[in-house]
Amino acid sequence: MTSPWFESPADAEKQLAAVGYLADTATATTTYLAGALEKPLLVEGPAGVGKTELAKAVARATGAGLVRLQCYEGLDEARALYEWNYKKQLLRIQAAGDQAWDETHDDIFSEEFLLTRPLLTAIRRDEPTVLLVDEVDKTDVEVEGLLLEVLSDFQVTIPELGTVEAVRRPLVVLTSNATRELSEAIKRRCLFLHIDYPDSEREREIVLSQVPEVEERLAGELVEVVARLRGLDLRKSPSIAESVDWARTLVALGTGTLDEDAIAATLGVVLKHHSDHERAVEELRLRTR
Ligand SMILES: Nc1ncnc2c1ncn2[C@@H]1O[C@H](COP(=O)(O)OP(=O)(O)O)[C@@H](O)[C@H]1O
Ligand SMILES: [Mg+2]
Repeated sequence: MTSPWFESPADAEKQLAAVGYLADTATATTTYLAGALEKPLLVEGPAGVGKTELAKAVARATGAGLVRLQCYEGLDEARALYEWNYKKQLLRIQAAGDQAWDETHDDIFSEEFLLTRPLLTAIRRDEPTVLLVDEVDKTDVEVEGLLLEVLSDFQVTIPELGTVEAVRRPLVVLTSNATRELSEAIKRRCLFLHIDYPDSEREREIVLSQVPEVEERLAGELVEVVARLRGLDLRKSPSIAESVDWARTLVALGTGTLDEDAIAATLGVVLKHHSDHERAVEELRLRTR
């Protein structure tokens, strides 16, 4: 079975770029290694730097299917792994009539009554699969334990059905905004990649690739202002997504240069807190009308 993933870091960079994801050297290298070593990749960094998009781009670039487990507080095994379809089981029991209980029991704990959730789905797929475990820092520690089991053996035991082993290992990408420390055990199992805001040159390229209508010079001005905003101590720093939105906005307004007036008029696209807005106006010494 040939590897569906990348041949080298350079190949990863090229293939990701071809689907619109501009990776720096560290990202391309670690992504290549995740495929080559079949190790889960833990991507950490602030919001909006391209962590989730990386997993999606890997799937696009390689033609693999994407299975996503969105983490949140209170996520449990039944939502992450599998659960039994109780309603359907109940109906079957009611319809069973005089059937012996043993028989009914075997019936209702069969494939037909199983609801597979992302982790089990990813393990059972026989096509190349990217498993995205998104925002893993939002879950409780118990879910980490569950992930650990799945990620170490790539198998899941369902008491009533037996052990399901992965036919082929998915490429696993876990993302975290680092709102809390993940367990050492998880970290040990994963390759680690920290993604930060890109440098101005790369961010300009990202903006240009997503908003081809924007002038290169304007895109350059815009990412410089965004970089300055990130240097302020804001509640929510603008992410790449905001830079892209800003470019779209300027194109829609037909803005030619990003002068003070233009910035002041459109700052709401980039900063989403009133206090950040005020701070930026003050620090950038914008004239507001
Ligand atoms: N390296 C990149 N190349 C192209 N687009 C990117 C890149 N990084 C981020 N983006 C853009 O920024 C947006 C936000 O990225 P996302 O992956 O959702 O951030 P997060 O790190 O919060 O998961 C994406 O929709 C994508 O358009
Ligand atoms: Mg994300």
